[in-house]
Amino acid sequence: MKKIFPLLLLCSLGAIACTQQQKETSEMSRFVNKLMDEMTLDEKIGQLNLSGGGDIVTGQARNSNTAEKIRSGQIGGLFNIKGVEKIREIQRVAVEESRLKIPLIFGMDVIHGYETVFPIPLGLSCSWNMEAIEESARIAAIEASSDGICWTFSPMVDVSRDPRWGRVSEGNGEDPFLGGQIAKAMIKGYQQDNSYSDPTHIMACVKHYALYGAPEGGRDYNTVDMSRQRMFNEYMYPYQAAVEAGVASVMASFNEVDGVPASGNKWLMTEVLREKWGFEGFVVSDYTGISEMIAHGIGNLQNVSARALKAGIDMDMVSEGFLSTLKKSLDEKKITENDINKACRRILEAKYKLGLFDNPYKYCDGTRRSKNIYTQEHRDKARRIASESFVLLKNQDGLLPLKKQASIALIGPLANTRSNMPGTWSVAADLSKPTTLLEALQKAIGDSSKIHYAKGSNLTEDAELEARATMFGRELGRDSRSHETLLKEALETAQRCDVILAALGESSEMSGESSSRSNLDIPDAQQRLLKELVKTGKPVVLLLFTGRPLTLSWEDAHVQSILNVWFGGSEAAEAIADVLFGEVNPSGKLTCTFPKNLGQIPLYYNHKNTGRPLATGKWFEKFRSNYLDVDNDALYPFGYGLSYTSFEYSEIRLSSKEMNFNNQLTASIVLRNSGSFAGSEVVQLYIRDCEGSVTRPVKELKGFQKVTLQAGESREVSFTVTAEMLKFYNYDLKHVAEAGDFEIMIGTNSRDVKTAKFELKEN
Ligand code: BGC
Repeated sequence: MKKIFPLLLLCSLGAIACTQQQKETSEMSRFVNKLMDEMTLDEKIGQLNLSGGGDIVTGQARNSNTAEKIRSGQIGGLFNIKGVEKIREIQRVAVEESRLKIPLIFGMDVIHGYETVFPIPLGLSCSWNMEAIEESARIAAIEASSDGICWTFSPMVDVSRDPRWGRVSEGNGEDPFLGGQIAKAMIKGYQQDNSYSDPTHIMACVKHYALYGAPEGGRDYNTVDMSRQRMFNEYMYPYQAAVEAGVASVMASFNEVDGVPASGNKWLMTEVLREKWGFEGFVVSDYTGISEMIAHGIGNLQNVSARALKAGIDMDMVSEGFLSTLKKSLDEKKITENDINKACRRILEAKYKLGLFDNPYKYCDGTRRSKNIYTQEHRDKARRIASESFVLLKNQDGLLPLKKQASIALIGPLANTRSNMPGTWSVAADLSKPTTLLEALQKAIGDSSKIHYAKGSNLTEDAELEARATMFGRELGRDSRSHETLLKEALETAQRCDVILAALGESSEMSGESSSRSNLDIPDAQQRLLKELVKTGKPVVLLLFTGRPLTLSWEDAHVQSILNVWFGGSEAAEAIADVLFGEVNPSGKLTCTFPKNLGQIPLYYNHKNTGRPLATGKWFEKFRSNYLDVDNDALYPFGYGLSYTSFEYSEIRLSSKEMNFNNQLTASIVLRNSGSFAGSEVVQLYIRDCEGSVTRPVKELKGFQKVTLQAGESREVSFTVTAEMLKFYNYDLKHVAEAGDFEIMIGTNSRDVKTAKFELKEN
């Protein structure tokens, strides 16, 4: 019934569209059936093998080991190979020299852009601008597809509440609803209408299914364990939203779920993903995710590979467990031929949908490269989008925007780097291209004056830590001069100027995969530098580079302005100049909580109340849920971000104080730009279910609108509230709304809200 219902609905919407779709599906089935009839068992298993192809070199690709495997039908796809010539050459081996001439699929981690790089995903999410996010994915798809890529390992939608985990930089923060909206926008950008009718449409891969963002202690790849209720209410929605958007593929996560690694977890991969959510694409393991189940302690390579296939993994990334053991497992009846056929069919269907059987070189048109990649148009858009991702955390006395005539000292280890600008996971970026901050600021103020630069300190005192934090060509050129010499030069530079811009924080590789931290301060050497700069008494702007929330209590108390610029992509430096000098008014809002100190972690806005909540505004009360030494509040809460202008919210007006399951109500506020700049505000809607059959969060994001107003302008902003929005997973994991009282909150961030009440009544 589950599968028939959407089909019926579709048919009633348009018989023609339905017939057309059915026709295409049956043509595809016929084609794939025929092909599979001709395939040997080995060739079918070969399709399930995804290889890194590390030995492939343009001009010699045909002589590589990988090519030999392709010839003998042992590879179904390759990933992270850059360059259309190379890809074309290797595709030729597949379609001219292998027995059945089955084309390969070429994947890549096109995470936040290709050569035109957009802000790291966490930064991008802070724009709360779904059109911009979709556009960034569209441009990434246009560029990647012009260079031979037809499949991206994006979007990454792992909800995370732990900034110690380095991969918070790759996701959309702590909120499942917002994460779901972003997942949909990204998939639309990559896959468009899911028809792949155009060579710029590429397949997306939502990852890392599931719960990868909740490792114990924030340590990457670590154990995850949570109740099913927490899973479904707080972590799963973004994956499900991706499936609803028609995502072509899903990547399994490294972690375990309920004591079984995701790559071998049948409940996750088949019962939830396919049977509950209706996913029809293919599932790929993460990098060696299958063979890692040996270390997880659930069997040898043969057993874990059989388990992965049975669980519902269709493609094995790098482990070669499928390639080397599935035949044996079949002989020993650990798996059936049908298990192999199902997986093989899904891979072949993906290739069919992409149009690779019609034209294996569809993504290998060399003429598109020069026209479509890193174009001025794409870069201009990336610059605008980057400026929307920055979050103004503090701006005392309106220090920002700066006047171009001011004499400016630019100080810090991030002030003069090219390679660190794009941020982590920008594998296709040309690291020699981004403008440094120093160059961009100098260009913005013109020749009449000069930016005064000093490095001021190394990234960290610890040279080994700096080496780990600047891998993959992201060196910061460690300065061999002593701290004292660097500091002296910086202070002399600062003394000559009116205002200090301190470009400090993390290097780009200090976040990302396998970059967990146990300390979230700005690194030692830089913190010392900042303290000395503040002591000069000159106004200081902290330009914060970071891939995660940092602990900034000292900075918030002592530095006049803080602009968090994350890692803004290839055009980051120009975008920073735009915001610093007021060409663009910042409008980013945090999608992850900034804690006051490390011990508060996990700290997130949509927490439960507990039986002993601390009264609002209090710090400590004995026998309440609190700490002796720090209050429960965030330094900067979810949804927070300032502007050069100010916004005023009216009280909430409800169209009715009650609704039932069949109707809806409208909640409105009037927003006024009460400052003197035009600006954009993200108006946020939160709801609290005051009395549930299970405990419910103190608030949950249910809607948002980004509104642009001229100085002095007002506008009514309305949200429709439906019973659907009030649903949650109850004790029996049923998705239900329950009658009762609700609080509705609208505001500028998750802390500062206006509140009203309504009741949901039985019909
Ligand atoms: C990461 C994935 C990535 C894959 C392929 C893994 O280490 O976890 O996010 O897509 O490598 O590069």
